[in-house]
Amino acid sequence: MERTQELFKKASQRLQELSSLPAIREDKNIPQMLEEKGIERRDFMKWAGAMTAMLSLPATFTPLTAKAAELADRLPVIWLHMAECTGCSESLLRTDGPGIDSLIFDYISLEYHETVMAAAGWQAEHNLEHAIEKYKGRYVLMVEGGIPAGSSEFYLTVGPHGTTGAEHARHASANAAAIFAIGSCSSFGGVQAARPNPTNAQPLSKVTNKPVINVPGCPPSEKNIVGNVLHFILFGTLPSVDAFNRPMWAYGLRIHDLCERRGRFDAGEFVQEFGDEGAKKGYCLYKVGCKGPYTFNNCSKLRFNQHTSWPVQAGHGCIGCSEPDFWDTMGPFEEPVANRLYATAFDGLGADKTADKIGITLLAATAVGVAAHAVLSMMVKDKENN
Ligand code: SF4
Ligand code: F3S
Repeated sequence: MERTQELFKKASQRLQELSSLPAIREDKNIPQMLEEKGIERRDFMKWAGAMTAMLSLPATFTPLTAKAAELADRLPVIWLHMAECTGCSESLLRTDGPGIDSLIFDYISLEYHETVMAAAGWQAEHNLEHAIEKYKGRYVLMVEGGIPAGSSEFYLTVGPHGTTGAEHARHASANAAAIFAIGSCSSFGGVQAARPNPTNAQPLSKVTNKPVINVPGCPPSEKNIVGNVLHFILFGTLPSVDAFNRPMWAYGLRIHDLCERRGRFDAGEFVQEFGDEGAKKGYCLYKVGCKGPYTFNNCSKLRFNQHTSWPVQAGHGCIGCSEPDFWDTMGPFEEPVANRLYATAFDGLGADKTADKIGITLLAATAVGVAAHAVLSMMVKDKENN
């Protein structure tokens, strides 16, 4: 209780300090933006309540979360693009009915973002330098994409001076107040780092020596991106993280723990092939390759496309997109891990590939356990049916 009160006091003080700073963008404020989009204050407060719960804070923090969202324009953000498909930005920007999360993203003072800014070439480069200089030590840096590194840095050059992506990332990291690697490419290297990784693409954390918070996913949900911004506004500190530097509030639980088909898994009711009777009845997708038991993310709670659906709800198993090296370690995507368990136990499943041996043992045991359960529950089920 004392700890909660302390936290509440700390966040209140920080918000008060931020309120005294001038708004970076004076043309917009949250109440006006909500009104323009036809969103009622009540819905905004409901959203703030959900965000508070998502950040694992008590409900009493809801007014503070709402206030933090209103103060998002005090926070300069620099967003860099590296080797990537831009899907993480697109997932936030390309919505036909912008929700409150995209609205907050719009409201954040995006001082530099190559996809949305009008400037190009020399002007863009000048804008970046200007933002880094003007907001030295105050800006939040978000980086999307894997980064060719070492002797392969030249595979990615940006801007009229042909600066390498790695140089850009290092330069912008040097004076950032907080750094977030947005998406699996920036967090773990992504598809361009998949074997044989011809451009030696690396995660942001291998390019800078500053602390990096990973927000993986292909793409990560908008709430996982906006939630980190709100957390930083509220506390001015980085969130607590797991072994892969992912915020615990977002990546603390497995897909399998939160899945709506979990009851089917426990009951041994599996889809055997896509389009069969089990698929129509919403059975568990483990046997057609779902990697939910080995993947840490909150997709089933947050969902995508204006929070309407997520992979498992749409009928395809999770492919483990928020785990390190998932392109190499989670495939084949439509086959269960049990099919190749022994071949990969030493090479490492995505989540097994941790430096920490306890993690390896635990997750290998989980993989064996999950596979064994799938087989056992099927046998029980078959017996019941005969
Ligand atoms: Fe859900 Fe996949 Fe786990 Fe089945 S295996 S319960 S579909 S997460
Ligand atoms: Fe990715 Fe699995 Fe979620 S594939 S989007 S972590 S359900």
